[in-house]
Amino acid sequence: MLGIIVLLLLPYLARSCPVHCECYLDVAVRCVGPKITDVPGQMPSNMTLLQLNVTNINVLNKWSLQNMSLLLRFSLIQGPLHTIHPLAFYTTPQLRSIKLSLNKLVALPGKVFSPLADLEQLLLDANRLESIPSEMLRGLTRLQHLELSSNQISRLDPGVFDGLSSLTFLNLGGNLISALAPGTFRSLTALRRLMLYTNRLEVLGDDALFGHLPELVDLKIHNNHITRLAPKVFWSLGKLSSLTLSGNQLQEIPEKSFYHMPQLVKLTLWTNPLRSLPARLMGHTPFMQEFYLFSTALATVPGNLFANMTGLLRLNLHLNSQLQVLPAELFHDLPKLKKLSIRGNDLRTLHPDQFFNLASLSVLNLNDNKLRSLPSTIFQNLKVVSAIDLKKNDLQTLPGEIFHSNGVLAKLSLTDNRWHCDCQIEGLAYWLRANKQVLDDKAVMCQSPLYQMLRPLWSLGERDFYACIPLAVGYFPRQRGSQTKISTSRQSPALTTYQPSTSQSMTFPLASSTPASTAWPPRITTTASTTASTTAAATTATSISPEASSAPPSIPSISMEHHSRPFYDRLVLEQGPEFVHHHHHQGWVSVWTLPLDAAHLGLHMTSHILLMVTGALLIFASMCGMYRLEKVMRELWVEDKDGRRAL
Ligand SMILES: *[C@@H]1O[C@H](CO)[C@@H](O)[C@H](O)[C@H]1NC(C)=O
Ligand SMILES: *[C@@H]1O[C@H](CO)[C@@H](O)[C@H](O)[C@H]1NC(C)=O
Ligand SMILES: *[C@@H]1O[C@H](CO)[C@@H](O)[C@H](O)[C@H]1NC(C)=O
Ligand SMILES: *[C@@H]1O[C@H](CO)[C@@H](O)[C@H](O)[C@H]1NC(C)=O
Repeated sequence: MLGIIVLLLLPYLARSCPVHCECYLDVAVRCVGPKITDVPGQMPSNMTLLQLNVTNINVLNKWSLQNMSLLLRFSLIQGPLHTIHPLAFYTTPQLRSIKLSLNKLVALPGKVFSPLADLEQLLLDANRLESIPSEMLRGLTRLQHLELSSNQISRLDPGVFDGLSSLTFLNLGGNLISALAPGTFRSLTALRRLMLYTNRLEVLGDDALFGHLPELVDLKIHNNHITRLAPKVFWSLGKLSSLTLSGNQLQEIPEKSFYHMPQLVKLTLWTNPLRSLPARLMGHTPFMQEFYLFSTALATVPGNLFANMTGLLRLNLHLNSQLQVLPAELFHDLPKLKKLSIRGNDLRTLHPDQFFNLASLSVLNLNDNKLRSLPSTIFQNLKVVSAIDLKKNDLQTLPGEIFHSNGVLAKLSLTDNRWHCDCQIEGLAYWLRANKQVLDDKAVMCQSPLYQMLRPLWSLGERDFYACIPLAVGYFPRQRGSQTKISTSRQSPALTTYQPSTSQSMTFPLASSTPASTAWPPRITTTASTTASTTAAATTATSISPEASSAPPSIPSISMEHHSRPFYDRLVLEQGPEFVHHHHHQGWVSVWTLPLDAAHLGLHMTSHILLMVTGALLIFASMCGMYRLEKVMRELWVEDKDGRRAL
C-alpha cells in the first residue's frame, strides 16, 4: 500500500541506488528480477520500504538486512526463498511489516521474529509451511495482521497465538488443519476477522472454542468437513456480522445456534447435506441482508425460519433438489426483500399467500421447479416486481389475471412449460398479446392440443377461443340447470390448490373439403374432470358443435338459430377458489352448471317431434298410396288376362 503511495511521488533516483532497483526519494526501494540472488547492499541509508519481487533469493541470511536501521517495511515475495537464518531479522528490530508471501518456505526457526516487538503485519501466505513453532509468535504484542493461508499447516499448538492481544486479522484458510484445541484463540481478544475456510475441520465440538473473541465480526468456516457443531459454539459472538458455514457436512444444526448474533448481516449454509432445520434457529437478526441456503437435502423448512430476519435483501433458497413444500408463512416477514430465488427446487405447488408480504421484491426466480399451476392471486401484492422467471416448470396454463397487479413487470420468462392452449388459457393469451414486450423469450409455445402445437401463446386470438364460455364465473345462472356435487376432502392441507385437469380430443371431419389450415371451429369433445387436490370428483362430458354457418357441410351440427356463443357443460372450479368456497357445504361443493337452456330445449324438442311425426305421416301416406296403386294394377292385370281387354 505504501509502495503504491510512494510510486505516485516524484521518483528521485539517488546515486547510491543498486542495480536492478528503483529508489524513490531515498525512502522506498523496489528491486525486481531473477538476476537478484541476494538482498542488494549499498541501499540509501534513509530507506524505510524495501520490496523485492520475482527475485532468485533462496536464503535470507544473518547479514542480509544489515545497515537498514530505518527500514520499516520489508517484502520479499514470489521467489524460491526456502530458508531464513534464525538471526536474519535481528539487525532490523524496528520492522513493522514483513511480507514473505508466495515463496517456498517449509519451516521457520522458532525465534526468528522474536526481536520484532513493533511488528504489526506478518504475511506468510502461499508457502509450504507445515507447522507454526509454538514460540514463533511469542511476544508480538503489537501484531495486528497475521496471514498464514495457503500453506500445509496440519496442526496448531494450543498456545501458538498466546499473547497476540492486538491481533485483529488471522487467516488460517487453505491449510490442512483437522482439529482445533479448545484454547487456541483464547488470547485474541481484539480479533475481528478469523478465517478457517478450506481446511479439514471435522467438528466444532467445544462450546468455548470462540469463547474469548468478543470483537469478532467475520468468521469464515466454509469448505471444511464439519459434521457437528457444539450447541452453543457461536453463542458468545455477539458482534458477528458474517458467518460462512457452507460446503461442510452438516446434516443438522443445533437449535438456537444463531440466537445470539443480533449484528448478523450474512449467513451461508449452502452445500451442506442438511436434512432438517430446527423450529428455533435464528434469533433476532434485523440487519440480515444475505441468507444462502441451497444445495441441501431439505424437504421443507420451518415456517418461521426467516421470521427474525426482517432486514433481508437477498434470499437464495434454491437448488435444493428435494425441497417440495414451502410453508405458507415462510416469506411473510421480509418487507425489504429485493431478490428471492427459489429456483431449481422440487416445488410442485405454492400457497396463494406465499408472496403475500414481499412489498419490495423486484426479482423472483421460480424457474426449474415442477409447478403445475399457480393461484390467481399469488403475485397480487408484488407491486414493484420487475422480473419473474417461470421457465422450465410443468405449467399448462395460468389464470388470466395473475399478472394484473404487477404494474412494473418488465421481464417475464415462460418458456419450457407444457402450455395447453385450450379455453382455460384464454385470459393469459390475451394478457400476453397486450404485454408481449415483457416476454424475455418470445418462444412461449403451445405444447398441446395437437392442432395448436408450437403456436406462440401470444398469437392466440378470438378465433381460437370463440367456442369458449366467457371467463367470468358469474355467467352461470344459478337458479336453473343441474346441480353437480363434488366431494372435497375436509382434511385437505393448507396448501391444497384446485388443479383442474382437462383432456380434450378433437374429431376431424371425414370428408371435409375445407383445408385444414382454415380456422373452422372443430367439433370438440370436452371432458372436464375437476379434482380437489385429493379427491377426484365429478366428470361431465358434452359434445358441442358450434355454429353451422362456418362449419364444413359434412360436420353434423345442432343448428343454432342465434349467433351467441355455444355452450357446453363444464365444471369451472378452476375459475378460482372463491367459487368453491361459496358453495362449500359439509364436505360437498355444489357446482351449478348450465345444461341446455330450457326454452330452447323445448323448441328443439318440439320441432324434433314435429319433424318425426311429419316424417312418419309421410311414410305412412306413401305406403298407403303404394298399396292402393298396387291393388289397382292387380285388378287391371286380372281383367286384362281374363277378358283380354286392352287398356
Ligand atoms: C554496513 O555498514 C558498515 C559501515 O557502516 C560497512 O562497513 C559494511 O560493509 C556495511 N555492510 C553492508 C552489507 O553494506
Ligand atoms: C536522511 O536523513 C537525515 C536525518 O536523519 C537527513 O539529514 C538527510 O537529509 C536524509 N537524506 C535524504 C536523502 O533524505
Ligand atoms: C511482482 O512482480 C510480478 C511480475 O512482474 C507482478 O505481477 C506483481 O504485481 C509484482 N508484485 C508486487 C507486489 O509488486
Ligand atoms: C426471534 O428472536 C427472538 C430473540 O432472539 C427469539 O426469542 C424468538 O424465538 C425468535 N423467533 C424465532 C421464530 O426463532
